[in-house]
Amino acid sequence: MKKKLLALGVAAALSLSLAACTTPEEGTNGDTLIKVGFSQIGSESGWRTANTDSVKASLSKDNGFELTFADAMGKQENQIKALRDFITAGVDVISFTPIVETGWDQVLQEIKDAGIPVVLVDRLVDTTVEDPYVTWVGADFRLEGQLAGQWVKENYPDAKIFELQGQLGSGAQIERELGFHEYMAANIIGQATGNFNREDGKVAMEAALAKYPDMNLLFAHNDDMGLGAIEAIKAAGKVPGVDIIIVTVDGVKAGLEALLEGEINYIVECNPVFGDQIADLIKKVYADEPVNKENIVVDATFEHGTFTQEELDQRKY
Ligand code: AHR
Repeated sequence: MKKKLLALGVAAALSLSLAACTTPEEGTNGDTLIKVGFSQIGSESGWRTANTDSVKASLSKDNGFELTFADAMGKQENQIKALRDFITAGVDVISFTPIVETGWDQVLQEIKDAGIPVVLVDRLVDTTVEDPYVTWVGADFRLEGQLAGQWVKENYPDAKIFELQGQLGSGAQIERELGFHEYMAANIIGQATGNFNREDGKVAMEAALAKYPDMNLLFAHNDDMGLGAIEAIKAAGKVPGVDIIIVTVDGVKAGLEALLEGEINYIVECNPVFGDQIADLIKKVYADEPVNKENIVVDATFEHGTFTQEELDQRKY
C-alpha cells in the first residue's frame, strides 16, 4: 500500500523514518510480511473469545502477516491509545472492532492523515470523518434482531418481553434492538443492559424478575447474558425455557447446549469465525486491489426441538 506522502502528519513522518531503519520481516515464502495492528474490544463473551482465536489464527506469520494484537479490556480509551500506537509504529493496515459507534472522529482523522487504510471488523462506526475505512466485514445485526422478532411474533405474539441489551451504543446493541422492535416493540415491558457478559446479564435479570413479575419472555442480545439470566431465573424458582421463554443471539457452544436442553428456546446465530475473510480483505487492501465496502458474514437460526446433538458436536466454538 503506497503511503499518501502529502497527507502525512508529524507522527506518521516519524514512524516512516523509523520503518526505514529496520529491515521488513519476511514470511515463510520470502514475501514481506504485512504489518497489521488489530485492536480487539476485550473478552466479554464466548463469541469474542472465538473471534479473537480466529483473528490470531488467520493473521499469522505463515499466512503473511506481522500482527500486533491489542486487547482493550472493554475500554474505548484503550482502543484509541492502541490505534495511536499503531500509527506511531507505522503499520501497513489498521484493523479494529469499535466497542461503540461514536467517539472515533479524532483518531480516525489521525489514521487518515497518516495514510493508513482501515479494515473494520464486526461493528461499525458513526463518524464525521469522510470515508473512514476501506472495508468492513461482520454480521447483519439488524437482520439478527428481525429474525428473533419474527420467531417471537409467530410463536408468542402476546408475550410480555424483557429485553437484555448488549453494550449500549454498540452497533450490535443498536441494530439488534431496532430489528427486534420492528416486530415486537408493543410487547416490551422492560429493558436493561447486561453489557454482553454473563455476570451483568444475571444481575440485570435478577432486578427485572423483581420489577416485572408478569414477564414471560426474555430477548437477550447474546448467549452469555441469556446464560446469566438463566441462573437468575432458576434462583427465583422459575423454569427457564418454560416459565420464561428465552431467545438469544450468537450460537456459541454453551448457548447451544442450553438450547438442546430446552433452557433456551431459539438462537439467532452470529458467527465469530471469519478470520479468513479478514485476512483476505487485508491482503487485497494492502495490494490496492478492489474490495466490497461491506462484507456480510452469513448466519443461521437454531430452535429447541429441531437442533440435534450431532449438530452441536460439529460446532467449533
Ligand atoms: O459484536 C458482536 C457481539 O459482541 C456478540 O454478539 C457478542 O457476544 C459480543 O460480545
